[in-house]
Amino acid sequence: MNIDNLPTPLYIAHRGLSARFPENTLAAFAGAADAGAQMIELDVTLTNDRKLVVIHDDTVDRTTNGSGAVRGLTMKTLGQLDAGSWFDPRFKTQRLPTLTQVLDMAKGRLLVNIEIKPEAVDPHSPDDAVERQILALVREKKMVEDVLVSSFDWRVLKKLRRLDPTIAIGLLADVPADDRLFDWIEQVTAFSWHPDYRVLTRVQVEKVHGVGARVFPYAVNGQIDTGGMLAMGVDGMMVDDSRQMTIQ
Ligand code: G3P
Ligand code: CA
Repeated sequence: MNIDNLPTPLYIAHRGLSARFPENTLAAFAGAADAGAQMIELDVTLTNDRKLVVIHDDTVDRTTNGSGAVRGLTMKTLGQLDAGSWFDPRFKTQRLPTLTQVLDMAKGRLLVNIEIKPEAVDPHSPDDAVERQILALVREKKMVEDVLVSSFDWRVLKKLRRLDPTIAIGLLADVPADDRLFDWIEQVTAFSWHPDYRVLTRVQVEKVHGVGARVFPYAVNGQIDTGGMLAMGVDGMMVDDSRQMTIQ
C-alpha cells in the first residue's frame, strides 16, 4: 500500500456503505465503488469448516434470515442465507460473501481494509489460521498492495507481519494513543492507527504521524464528526454513508 497513491482524505466505506446497503454484501461493496469510495472496509471471521466469511457479528441473527453462531455453521449453509431482506426486500438475493468473492469484485476497482474479528484468532496459529488463510488468498489474487489488514487483536497482526514484511497493517483501538500503541506501531511496522473517533485529539494525530503511521478513525453507529476529524489532520476515515464522503 503506497500512501502517496491514495487520495486525502481517504474515505473508507464501512462494511460497504452500510447506511445505504445491507452491510458486508457484494451489493454494499459495489454500491461503495459506484459512489466513489476508493477503499472498502469489511469484517472477516471463520466458519465451522474454517472458510473465510465476510460478516460482522458472531451470529447470523441480525443480518440474515437464519439463526445461530457463525462458528457453528458451514460456508455452504451460510452462503444460502438471505443477507439482504433484513435491510430492504429489494436486496433479497444478497448472500454472505466469502472473502474470495469480495476480492474478486474489488480487484482493480477498490482497495480493501480487511478487519480480522478477534473470535477468528487461534492462539497457536495452525496452518489454516485466519491470518495465514488471508495472506495466502491475498497473495493468490496478487492483491498484497491493495489490502490493509486491521484488527482489535494486535497479536494476530504481529503474526501476520512475521509472515509478510510488506503487507499494510492497521491497529484498531477504542482507547487513546498511549505508550503501548507506539510500541506496537514499531513492532508491526504499522501502516495506520484506526481509533474510535470519540477518543481522538489533534495532539494524538500529530504524535502518530510523527512515527510515520497514518490515522483513519472509525465511526460508531454511523456517527462521525467528519469536519472535526479533518481539522485534526486525519488521513481519512470510515464512513457509512456516501453523503459523508463529500468534504475534501
Ligand atoms: O474497522 C473499524 C470498525 O469497523 C470497527 O468497528 O464494530 O464496525 O467492526 P466495527
Ligand atoms: Ca469492522
